[in-house]
Amino acid sequence: MSELLFDSEWLTLRRRADHQARDTLLNEEAAYWLTQRHRSHIVDLGAGNGNNAHYLIPWLGPQQHWRLIDHDAALLKEARRSLEEAIQSNHASEGHGVETGQMDLNTLDLPALNQQWPIDLVTASALLDLASAAWIERLAEQCHAIQAAALFVLNVNGHWSITGIKDGLDETVRQAFNTHQTKSKGLGHGPALGPMAAFAASDQFKRVGFEVQTRTSVWQLLAGSAYTKALGFQLINGWHQAACEMLPDQIHEFDVWFVRRQTQLASGQVGIEVGHTDLYAEPLAS
Ligand SMILES: C[S@@+](CC[C@H](N)C(=O)[O-])C[C@H]1O[C@@H](n2cnc3c(N)ncnc32)[C@H](O)[C@@H]1O
Repeated sequence: MSELLFDSEWLTLRRRADHQARDTLLNEEAAYWLTQRHRSHIVDLGAGNGNNAHYLIPWLGPQQHWRLIDHDAALLKEARRSLEEAIQSNHASEGHGVETGQMDLNTLDLPALNQQWPIDLVTASALLDLASAAWIERLAEQCHAIQAAALFVLNVNGHWSITGIKDGLDETVRQAFNTHQTKSKGLGHGPALGPMAAFAASDQFKRVGFEVQTRTSVWQLLAGSAYTKALGFQLINGWHQAACEMLPDQIHEFDVWFVRRQTQLASGQVGIEVGHTDLYAEPLAS
């Protein structure tokens, strides 16, 4: 199975938009759950260079023990180094710890891990939309088997828009991109769920007996900012490439759209919004 690799620069570029977008109520739910457990063993799936832990550490109380899992050893090394630095600088007295584990998430076995290292919270950011329906179904079953809460955030939900100037081709590009998102990403067999992932996860967690809350988390990139231009350039580029791949007969139209939208972005006339869905699931008291 080919490995889906993510660029550290891309993950770092998104960090500010990710952190601004995330739903804070769900952090409080997770923090309360950990308080009730009197222990904070947290597994971060598809941790990349540590984006999710960097965001959550200030929210989740003292003595957090993180286990970051990813198949990309270089990203994990970077995550560990930057998290240890952040803990040392900002949370030195709180007793946090970070471990990493290089692993293919297709072989994830939370019940086995839970026997050596009891897990309280399973989390991931920007991961579920890469996964197949069967993988998400197994994930919910494994969380149920270990009775851990789950916080899965920044799952793309397919609603993005370029704001400020309307463009008749945006909708075609958006639909083509959303279809492209469902190509297999190697996380579970078969197509990825893409924009449907958070909804499928919600159904699966409810099925296994969890109370589920979902909230939207939208990247809001304001027209004219240097950050919007940097992240927006990459987004429009990705949407353009996906549209050309899905609808090759319209490549010329998409190329013209690409230049038009990039010019408007660079001159500060348009901003961008990208919709995500965050999900928190907690085992119902039995
Ligand atoms: C979109 S990135 C998100 C990274 C990080 N959670 C963040 O929010 O920046 C998805 C991550 O999942 C990892 N990943 C994808 N498929 C995987 C698999 N089959 N096994 C382990 N990690 C995987 C990638 O290496 C990448 O770090």
